[in-house]
Amino acid sequence: MASKIKKIGVLCSGGDGPGMNAAVRAVVRSGINYGLKVEGIMRGYQGLIDNDMMEMGPRSVSGIIGRGGTIIKTARSPEFRTEKGQQKAVNTLKKHKIDALVVVGGDGSYLGANELYSKWGIPTVGIPGTIDNDLHGTDQTIGCNTAINTALEAIDKVRDTAHSMERIFIVEVMGNRSGYIAMQVAMGSGAEDVVVPEFKPDYSAMCDRITKGAKRGKISWIIVVSEGVVKAASLAESITTMTGLETRSVVLGHVQRGGNPCALDRILSTRLGVAAVEELLKGNAGKAIGVIQDKINIVPLVDARKRPFAEFNEYYRLITMMR
Ligand code: F6P
Repeated sequence: MASKIKKIGVLCSGGDGPGMNAAVRAVVRSGINYGLKVEGIMRGYQGLIDNDMMEMGPRSVSGIIGRGGTIIKTARSPEFRTEKGQQKAVNTLKKHKIDALVVVGGDGSYLGANELYSKWGIPTVGIPGTIDNDLHGTDQTIGCNTAINTALEAIDKVRDTAHSMERIFIVEVMGNRSGYIAMQVAMGSGAEDVVVPEFKPDYSAMCDRITKGAKRGKISWIIVVSEGVVKAASLAESITTMTGLETRSVVLGHVQRGGNPCALDRILSTRLGVAAVEELLKGNAGKAIGVIQDKINIVPLVDARKRPFAEFNEYYRLITMMR
């Protein structure tokens, strides 16, 4: 591939997710295979502002495909949202003769990548790295599948104690403003109910179902709630008050972001990392790389941001049929 690009940078930005390391590895190794130099930028956009980076050789990414987190660290940078911060970042790129940038991150990171491209003329591409699976242009984001499996494993354990002590459990999962994780996890764990930002919750109908269930002898319930809609502890308290049944709460929190990436996330990250480098070499910048129906899919960064999950009604219908 004949290209003016000789040196690229790679950074991770926003909340980490399992598979980010595999993506960094894929960018580094494929870049080197194409004869490029690759700089690993530390702590996302903040590393650009602070001039904090290291040249990555092929061995610098040895043994990381299966490790959670990201060896080049990640962060959210309020400074990068300012004109001054962006100017500093651009100066660093120029100083190091970095011709193009691969950004691994979610919605806010894509916004940054698009600003670097459209306002400052830096060729950028985005790889979807977020457990929330809330971006257009890809069926899955890196880390989401592992996060769902981590949450499922935890809920299976909660189910054991819920059954044994005949209790109701409210389990709060991550997802930012998307109920994707909650919906998947509710279906996969056999939860009796789910509360997501996309649907207006009807707690009195929920309590009614619980009370009727209790009369039939069913006292153990798992209710998955997506963070941000309601705090698990306060919902547990309300349910206890409304039903008179013992209710406990569990917040799974950042556990969902850690751990070794599953096969799907490792493979997805590898495909996306290589495709990102190849698109830059083709001169195709300002784009987000995804995989749709098992094929690499390229959309403008501006179109890739914030996707509502299309199958919510169907998922919810199935969950209610399993009660
Ligand atoms: O976007 C990923 C995510 O894990 C969200 O699900 C969650 O709302 C947020 O990040 C938490 O961010 P922090 O780690 O900054 O608390």
